[in-house]
Amino acid sequence: MDGGTRFALNGQMTHVNGVPPDWTLLRWLREEGWTASKEGCAEGDCGACTVLMSTPPLEESAMAWRAVNACLVLLPQVHGRAVITAEGLTKADGGPHPVQRALAESHGTQCGYCSPGFTMALAALSLDADRSEEAILESIAGNLCRCTGYRPIVEAARALPSWTPALDPTIEQTLRALTAESLAYTVGGQRVCAPVDLDEALAFRAEHPDAWVWAGGTDLGLRITKALERPAEILALGRIPALRGVRETDKTLELGATTPYVEALAAMTALAPSLGALVRRIAAAQIRNLGTLAGNLGTASPIGDGLPPLIALGAKVVLGSLRGERVLPVEEFVTGYRQTALAPDELILSIRIPKPSPNLHVSCHKVAKRVDQDISAVSAAFVLGVEDGRVTTARLAYGGVADRPKRATGAEAALLGQPWTRDGLEAAKAALADDIAPMDEARGTAAYRRLVAANLLDRLYLETTETTAPARLEAL
Ligand SMILES: Cc1cc2nc3c(=O)[nH]c(=O)nc-3n(C[C@H](O)[C@H](O)[C@H](O)COP(=O)(O)OP(=O)(O)OC[C@H]3O[C@@H](n4cnc5c(N)ncnc54)[C@H](O)[C@@H]3O)c2cc1C
Ligand code: FES
Ligand code: FES
Repeated sequence: MDGGTRFALNGQMTHVNGVPPDWTLLRWLREEGWTASKEGCAEGDCGACTVLMSTPPLEESAMAWRAVNACLVLLPQVHGRAVITAEGLTKADGGPHPVQRALAESHGTQCGYCSPGFTMALAALSLDADRSEEAILESIAGNLCRCTGYRPIVEAARALPSWTPALDPTIEQTLRALTAESLAYTVGGQRVCAPVDLDEALAFRAEHPDAWVWAGGTDLGLRITKALERPAEILALGRIPALRGVRETDKTLELGATTPYVEALAAMTALAPSLGALVRRIAAAQIRNLGTLAGNLGTASPIGDGLPPLIALGAKVVLGSLRGERVLPVEEFVTGYRQTALAPDELILSIRIPKPSPNLHVSCHKVAKRVDQDISAVSAAFVLGVEDGRVTTARLAYGGVADRPKRATGAEAALLGQPWTRDGLEAAKAALADDIAPMDEARGTAAYRRLVAANLLDRLYLETTETTAPARLEAL
């Protein structure tokens, strides 16, 4: 078979050949005249490019459809998938789709920039039966209107009928067959390797250590769309079944490296509800449908929201290469500002999170200017054990207060073995001052971050000592 990407676009099999592998789906769509999807920001923030993309089933289950940002999806990522744009919603007779009708009837059709994206976000909502206020707001949290408003769109969402995209069985069969095959091609000197076999990926990694290792692409994509870098080689991992999925034992939750947040959310919520709540505040649905915890770890940003909980819970990262596997505590994996211990021939295979024993209190926090689609100024994750009034376990990890996410070891030492009282808390807050070294920058001054970091310890105290959390805290 010759190279290129094959996928179903709006119900028709499409073969994209001769296009460089670092083109985004959005770029290709617009060049080909599918101009309903807009480029508002080219960085996953505005939702104007939202399309529905099918996800290969984990086993024999039905194909799942998810809203994604076409501005961050590379063409090779859609190989073997089905994509629906706003054009594809129009019925064969030219009439409006139920989602379009609901929007029109609620006066929710706004400008040409945001409307197609809102339409596709609501199309994703209509796949599910949940029309709770929470589900509605979550479905459009990744879509920005800069001028008109959201009320009519929310009203349209409330009136939305349920809908399942129909895919011709022959096309579905073709897509399933494509999903099972490795993909590799070179265009204009740029090469992509998107294998289905882990050993093939490890061999490519060993031979091409400079290839960009692509999981969801929600961090890497910006290097192409904003920094205008051109990768010579891409190793795309998203088609390797061995790297995707959630495995559980009594003691551990193990997330395959390419498992998107959306597929890990239920298990992470079961492990600790506060962890699940934090994951739901990572970006918005379109990003969580693509992005992975392993990618968060690979980027190793000081404000990566996934890292403080992994550190506080004592998670480990499983690394693999042709030489074999090794397992490192996440704390040791992150070695500096956006630096990791990943060797040039290694890949992250999975992340192992120990399940906390029931007597431990786990609380995760994200402090940002907005609830949705915002980057943390400070984040924190605490694991606390108190027996007979004394602290027996204290693991306190912070993000946004140093060059990397890190534990507050001084504050931990101040707490351990001491009574869990206001005085003990104040001693920990005093020690915390030496544990952290925040910077002044756009999301907050160093002084603000110090204050927030200490206040989060106050919150931990209230959470664990007040029988009813104060209403204001519950609302945050
Ligand atoms: C609009 C927007 C909002 C965002 N909001 C948040 C937020 O609220 N909180 C937050 O923490 N992050 C946020 N992010 C950042 C990003 O979504 C996350 O960091 C995400 O977890 C990255 O995962 P990915 O799979 O997309 O990574 P990718 O972009 O595919 O990869 C990221 C890095 O990890 C490496 N990598 C990935 N997988 C592997 C592997 N298996 N082996 C070796 N290396 C690997 C890559 O080479 C790359 O260096 C946001 C991003 C966008 C665009
Ligand atoms: S163009 Fe803004 S999210 Fe894609
Ligand atoms: S951005 Fe379209 S109406 Fe506001």
